[in-house]
Amino acid sequence: MSKKAIGIDIGGTGIKGAVVDTKHGTLLSERLRFETPAGGTPKAIAKALKDLIAQLPGAQGLPVGICFPAVVKSGRTMSAANVSKEWIGFNADTFFENELAREVHVLNDADAAGIAEVRYGAAKDVRGLVVMTTLGTGIGTALMFNGKLIPNAELGHLEIDGVDYESKAAYSAKERGNLSWEQWAKRLQKYYSHLEALLTPDLIIVGGGVSKEHEFFLPLLKIKTPIVPAANRNSAGILGAAHFAKKHDTD
Ligand code: BGC
Repeated sequence: MSKKAIGIDIGGTGIKGAVVDTKHGTLLSERLRFETPAGGTPKAIAKALKDLIAQLPGAQGLPVGICFPAVVKSGRTMSAANVSKEWIGFNADTFFENELAREVHVLNDADAAGIAEVRYGAAKDVRGLVVMTTLGTGIGTALMFNGKLIPNAELGHLEIDGVDYESKAAYSAKERGNLSWEQWAKRLQKYYSHLEALLTPDLIIVGGGVSKEHEFFLPLLKIKTPIVPAANRNSAGILGAAHFAKKHDTD
């Protein structure tokens, strides 16, 4: 039985993809990265995906998992943070299946990262409630209880001090405001203690590209819950999306 799928991670700035061994959670091809087309419309993104998949060796016929920065219900994108509003209420599974002429399964990007950590990373064999967070353009969150995903948690948008706190604590806010690690960590402290007070998790995982620099900010946070960097770093979305596609595959 083949254990391969293509994983694609669509973000506000980049689209990344690779062929994945879904049994072991490893990349079987180079990780390709394309710029997200300006406007981020479905048509423009589909064209970029076609070009990307055409450049992946051994991609022929493999199912595709796509993770995306939106609430996704039964293959339909229900929101659109940092991409075109055309995605709201859009049947993304069917659209991409027609465009790419193969089986496609779409899910939320933080959920994909959470699946990758449960299968191949920091949440493997962890019992109880694990909260995955991704710090990037926005804040993505995924809830996993005893290894099972509760999809579409949108806790990056928690309101703290009267604002959608993703606008203060995402990695993009650090860059926008030219914040030092210490200044940013103060905002993260507010965010993670709020999350902790609401959920009493057993483990919090911090992902997103900046998690590779975790030693500059995680030690500054004072919370009771163990908080660790994601094991899969930048490939978590790709790995989780590929695993999600394969799960639906019947061969
Ligand atoms: C979106 C989430 C997404 C997160 C990370 C948020 O703004 O609402 O759906 O998971 O950004 O991309």
